[in-house]
Amino acid sequence: MDKIVKHPSVLDGKNPSELRGDSITNDRYFCKDFMDKEWNHMWTKVWLIAGREIQIEEPGDYIVHDLVKESVIIVRQKDGSIKGFYNSCAHRGQRLVECDSSQDSFRCPYHDWQFGLNGDVISVPDEDDYPQGSPIGKRKLVEVRVDTWDGFIFYTMSDEAPDLMDYLDPIPEIYKNHNFKDQIRAQWVRVELDVNWKFFCDNFNESYHTRFVHPQVPSVIDQDHFTSRYEMFPKGHARIIQMGRPSLRDRVNEDEDHPFKMILESWGVDVSKYPDYETLSEQGWTDLKKAKRKLYKEKGYHHYENLSDEELTESPFQFIFPNIAMGVQADGCILLNWFPHPTDPEKCFFDLWDMGYPIGGSAKGIGKTGRENDQAFTSTSAGIGKKDEANDQEFLSRTKVNPVKLQEVELDFRDYDGGKGVKDLWDHVVYQDWQLTDGLRRGVRSKGYQEPYLAAQETRVRYFHETLHDYLNGKPPK
Ligand code: FES
Repeated sequence: MDKIVKHPSVLDGKNPSELRGDSITNDRYFCKDFMDKEWNHMWTKVWLIAGREIQIEEPGDYIVHDLVKESVIIVRQKDGSIKGFYNSCAHRGQRLVECDSSQDSFRCPYHDWQFGLNGDVISVPDEDDYPQGSPIGKRKLVEVRVDTWDGFIFYTMSDEAPDLMDYLDPIPEIYKNHNFKDQIRAQWVRVELDVNWKFFCDNFNESYHTRFVHPQVPSVIDQDHFTSRYEMFPKGHARIIQMGRPSLRDRVNEDEDHPFKMILESWGVDVSKYPDYETLSEQGWTDLKKAKRKLYKEKGYHHYENLSDEELTESPFQFIFPNIAMGVQADGCILLNWFPHPTDPEKCFFDLWDMGYPIGGSAKGIGKTGRENDQAFTSTSAGIGKKDEANDQEFLSRTKVNPVKLQEVELDFRDYDGGKGVKDLWDHVVYQDWQLTDGLRRGVRSKGYQEPYLAAQETRVRYFHETLHDYLNGKPPK
């Protein structure tokens, strides 16, 4: 049924016999000792996403990425390359910068040592007062390894970690027909939540909850476990591929507008020809592929050029170990990234990126944060793209209630406030996940916590924990 090509290194993500069956203890969700082990043996060994290349287009542009005890600076060099440094002065360790910006050099706020973009010390006050010799030419900022994949910037604090492409394997090859670098990040919201970061690793490694927690999804993405494909990759990454059509078990009431019909109609498909719900789902799904293939050029969907027919409609949800999830669709991507609080194992931070392709052109040239693309218009399976008649602006419609303009945005760090701080996201799927966090945090602390009793479709949850155990035991996957 699903023709997205299976990569040879993939394990059956619905087969627990592929795994050891390690216990998933509850101390991992609240114990400081467990948190410290994760820092020493996992966070400092993996590749972490720091942002997007479009954030640092010009020499001197930099990103400050804070993670638990560390902070790194990712800076565009004069030759166009990217370097990363620990955010710690080479004199006596003062943190150099606090937030993203752009400058020709870094000046320490303590004693005014000055560093070039390449990390070298270029000036110090009282240079002749160093009996051991001037620090210029001797001292420099300590580097971290930086690399990119399709516009995403990653770094690692480990010298032993494999190269990024090897670490991500086979993800870059699997998504080679997409161009994530050409997408526009139209929403970038961060919240602090009262739950251990691994709640989201568990949550995004199963879709068992989605039919219940996200009732708006099955009308456009088939949530049935028997029609989906589950995959686990050798380095701890995993995904589910679901069909971009209505689930037959979750029918929209006859008196409601059906979102899948609206998608079909937007591609010129006559939905009145479908005699029943089954035909709407099955034949409509096939007709949608054909219509997209036939009409994409004239409608300006040039990003379909290299997509297979399956990629035009299907909905892979990709987990990248340890803390990234990507909902990849033909017209865009939702990227989720979550990471621990610096001191409290029962808190974490969560970033929501909503990204979409411009229609009728390329994101190239749209440029830096805040510059608009007035031509852009896209739609997603979570809601049909909607045009605001009042001002003729275009929107990325991840939520039906509050679509956002398709323009590059900066970080929007919200006070979650029990959900009251993100009212504009109340109909967004991640809000529905966020609302579970407080109950999960309290529940896993109970004396009544038991070893999880996992469905086959939750096998990836166990795979995540076993990969984590491998890191904690000093044996990361090769
Ligand atoms: Fe930075 Fe002294 S700690 S110049």
